[in-house]
Amino acid sequence: MDVVKLHPALGAEVRGVDLSKPVDATTKAAIAQAFNDHIVLVFKDQTLDETSQLAAGEIFGPVAIRRRPPGRQPGGDYDTPFMLVTNIVRPDGSSLGAFGDGEMWFHHDTSYYPEPHRATLLYAMKLPTHGGNTCFSNMYMAYENIPRPLRDRLEGRRVLQIHDYKRRERLNLDEIDFAKTRHFEQPIIITHPKTGRKALYISRLMSARIEGFSKAESEDALEQLFEIAENPAIVFEHEWSLGDMVIWDNWCSIHARKDFPRDQERLMRRLTIEGQAMSF
Ligand code: OGA
Ligand code: MN
Repeated sequence: MDVVKLHPALGAEVRGVDLSKPVDATTKAAIAQAFNDHIVLVFKDQTLDETSQLAAGEIFGPVAIRRRPPGRQPGGDYDTPFMLVTNIVRPDGSSLGAFGDGEMWFHHDTSYYPEPHRATLLYAMKLPTHGGNTCFSNMYMAYENIPRPLRDRLEGRRVLQIHDYKRRERLNLDEIDFAKTRHFEQPIIITHPKTGRKALYISRLMSARIEGFSKAESEDALEQLFEIAENPAIVFEHEWSLGDMVIWDNWCSIHARKDFPRDQERLMRRLTIEGQAMSF
């Protein structure tokens, strides 16, 4: 197995591993280490059915079952860990999967859960001819890039994370029905449970309000933090090929999707890895 860096800030390609076959314990340990070191891992030319994608997921921890939003029928969890990320629409007009079309702003997955998922895996099954790249930002570096006076003001504070199903629009707190919208207050600077390193934990799509700040102070600080978090110097942009299996660390990175043609189909099979509570 070889690990080849893809960008100075984050991202590496793992070569010489066929995830459709059993992976030995030594290789699994090397992959897990590479994941902690590089934040995003790309495995190219993979042929994965659901069973082998599940086995690949388990290298990184227990695979999570999908949860239904509050108030959606039938209640309780879905009975599958898989989700399709796609713009494909069935003949009856309903969506085959989630996250639809086009651009999606930077976010963490499930930052609005008390125990945000550790990681997300996407396997590319259908791609548009161009566009739809996924960008990843290193939030350890974002933390280090916060000017000292602002960092001091953020120390020990929480930020309200909300998922209201928008993809490219700022949250509007006046419009949110909190009984029906998943949300959670997280530390604004977390200590990564596996690496012990500090990471900034905000995103343009899901971070609504810094606790203890006035509305204006919060908006001002968040806007500065979004710029720091989206600085191109700390962003790796992945251009997908069919058969790519990409996993990202969802605690120390945020990700965004670029626009792609509406009249072309894009299909990814997605899994997530169970997480834990974030602490300061
Ligand atoms: C996701 C996600 C981005 C993409 O699956 O959580 O944000 O490029 N996907 O489809
Ligand atoms: Mn996402």
